[in-house]
Amino acid sequence: MAAKLITVFGASGFIGRYVVKRLAQRGYLVRAAVRVPEGALFLKPMGDVGQVTPVQANIRDPKSVAAAIDGAHGVINLVGILYQSGKQRFDKVHRAGAENIARAAAEAGVERLVHMSALGASEESRSLYAQSKAGGEAAVRDCFAKATILRPSVIFGPQDDFFNRFAELACLLPALPVFGCPPPRFRDGKLDIYGDGGTKFQPVYAGDVAEALVVALEKDDLGGNTYELGGPSVYSFKQIMELILDGTGRKDLLLPIPFWAATIGAFFAELLPVPPLTRDQVTLLKTDNILADGTHGFEPFGIEPTTVESILPTYLDQYCKGGRFSRFSSA
Ligand SMILES: NC(=O)c1ccc[n+]([C@@H]2O[C@H](COP(=O)([O-])OP(=O)(O)OC[C@H]3O[C@@H](n4cnc5c(N)ncnc54)[C@H](OP(=O)(O)O)[C@@H]3O)[C@@H](O)[C@H]2O)c1
Repeated sequence: MAAKLITVFGASGFIGRYVVKRLAQRGYLVRAAVRVPEGALFLKPMGDVGQVTPVQANIRDPKSVAAAIDGAHGVINLVGILYQSGKQRFDKVHRAGAENIARAAAEAGVERLVHMSALGASEESRSLYAQSKAGGEAAVRDCFAKATILRPSVIFGPQDDFFNRFAELACLLPALPVFGCPPPRFRDGKLDIYGDGGTKFQPVYAGDVAEALVVALEKDDLGGNTYELGGPSVYSFKQIMELILDGTGRKDLLLPIPFWAATIGAFFAELLPVPPLTRDQVTLLKTDNILADGTHGFEPFGIEPTTVESILPTYLDQYCKGGRFSRFSSA
């Protein structure tokens, strides 16, 4: 039987490479739909000769989307942006782009569509990112009712944008920020500056998310549903910063930053070509990023989620003073 073809939009991104590798290992033909195919050539060795093919597609352009989907058995949409720039607007990428993919998939008779959203997606959110993610979910459901939608919390793994960014910051600054702490107050006769440690997250491993995306493509009973995904444990922002300091062997101070100060900082950060923080992200940080029902959400996929503690040290050690092996070398 001929191998099934899967089109992966956003294949060159952080999660994309985990998904492409898994699909190739399972014998699928993979069409990696990306804006610049040359930038996705690193995906080709993940499969046999000819198994992974980068093709050009911009999800804002319906024609290129339809061409990338033509002949596919399944489609996975991993396209997302963290900040707006030029023509890359949240609404155009997360909502209209997702709609272009879902509509083209329905018209082409694609059997499975798996769409990546984000925990906290909500039309009611004051964050444009979260609003556009909710708009994308609704558009996907309208066009392709049997799509599977996944909503992960913050994702960790060697190429992530979250833990690596704060680890880099730990190398540059004497203090790391803790967002979401209440104003300082006296509790039991002591000054409490962290409260319960700020915004809460349920970090989830990239490998587990990629596995769930592929399982969603393969299992019959997951279509038409939306699944929230988190790791096995919930951490406050302060606990996450402590994990980063531990993983990088550093002893930086932890500085509670009120949201108003973070908003001012983000205003100036937005002047940079790649802003490390935006006002929209500060708005997102005002809401905990955890599963409401206290679970990790992986049961329907048959996956036991990986702990942060087992993966983080394997890539944060590159930020240790003196380099990766400095902790072990005696000479
Ligand atoms: N990482 C997380 O912690 C996290 C958490 C929750 C949800 N998510 C969601 O998971 C998905 C994957 O995240 P990720 O971390 O892998 O993101 P990523 O590393 O930034 O990758 C995003 C991909 O989208 C592509 N892309 C951007 N604009 C495009 C466009 N107009 N047309 C075609 N491709 C475009 C990028 O390629 P080029 O820019 O090179 O063209 C890149 O391959 C996203 O939807 C994200 O919102 C991620």
